[in-house]
Amino acid sequence: MAKVTFLPANVLVEFELGQLPYRHHGKPGSLLDVALNFGIPLEHACGGNCACTTCHVIVRQGEDNLSEIEEDEADRLDLAAGLTLHSRLACQSVVRGDVVVEIPSWNRNWVREAGGSINLGEAVPAGRRPGNEF
Ligand code: FES
Repeated sequence: MAKVTFLPANVLVEFELGQLPYRHHGKPGSLLDVALNFGIPLEHACGGNCACTTCHVIVRQGEDNLSEIEEDEADRLDLAAGLTLHSRLACQSVVRGDVVVEIPSWNRNWVREAGGSINLGEAVPAGRRPGNEF
């Protein structure tokens, strides 16, 4: 049994390791996968492919209960706003025990949007926006 707490909402979820259905975003059993399984909004603009930093979280407890950071995650994290010594990408961090993570304020649009989540999947490139056609 593992417990993951998501701050600042202070939502605690419990599950058997390896038993959650995979939600097709990020590594199976990752913090992102766990969040999606329990309906906790966590941005993941690149679909959990270690190609953005929108799933950036800060680990407050239980760092040793996450998979080791790999080189591609470390390289990507270097680009994250507000990087800390305890930062991880939720899509790459596989849960192996109890952890407490904080979703940074820049990744909390869902609080303001009453549960909505930004979908960047259909984002229009800047040069193609209406009124920007030249
Ligand atoms: S969702 Fe893009 S890096 Fe995690």
